[in-house]
Amino acid sequence: MFLTFLVLMVTVQCGLCDKVSPKPGLKLFREDYKSVEETCLAVGFVRNNCRNDSRTTKTSESHLNDKYHRVVAFDVRLKDNKRNLATKARVVFETVDLNEGQGYNVSTGIFTAPSGGIYVFDWTTLAWIGQYAYTSLVVNDQFKSWNHCHDGTSKTSLPCSKMTVVKLKRGDKVWIGVFGGPANMNQQYTSFSGYKL
Ligand SMILES: *[C@@H]1O[C@H](CO)[C@@H](O)[C@H](O)[C@H]1NC(C)=O
Ligand SMILES: *[C@@H]1O[C@H](CO)[C@@H](O)[C@H](O)[C@H]1NC(C)=O
Repeated sequence: MFLTFLVLMVTVQCGLCDKVSPKPGLKLFREDYKSVEETCLAVGFVRNNCRNDSRTTKTSESHLNDKYHRVVAFDVRLKDNKRNLATKARVVFETVDLNEGQGYNVSTGIFTAPSGGIYVFDWTTLAWIGQYAYTSLVVNDQFKSWNHCHDGTSKTSLPCSKMTVVKLKRGDKVWIGVFGGPANMNQQYTSFSGYKL
């Protein structure tokens, strides 16, 4: 009697199994997907595209440091006011808010391109009241782009921004330099940032 009941239960359940399963292809799909993933990993050259879900959180972080997708970006600003910087002086931004790729050197103010490519730079100076700050993007000692910030006789501090796009080779050196001194700039309102496209 009990045995009969058991057999009946199993039969009914198996019958239900087949009928109730809403996506009979899902199991096959999973099996196929698993083998695709394994093949992908076995092939090796697309290793970083073969990740499975359990590694998703690590993925974005390691993606940033991926050999083929290295992010280069920095954002720095002045900590101290700069007064009377002479022509050709380099502006050293002491506060580093971001330095992905370690291109920016805080002790020299020089950004060294970790890899070749197209880079975007922009910088804003806040000229001292009634004074000026003539700064330029300098690439390997050459002035490339000019930010003519002249407050003249006004009674306000004047912010001036400039953006430029340059093609750099690995190891090229970039900084903000004064093209006509003296330059006078207010501390944290003066900043410099850049990134590789
Ligand atoms: C998926 O991730 C887990 C955890 O990291 C790992 O143990 C497993 O081997 C991975 N599977 C494949 C196919 O890479
Ligand atoms: C920054 O530049 C200085 C002077 O050239 C050098 O001694 C120092 O090692 C550099 N720092 C980094 C992190 O590269």
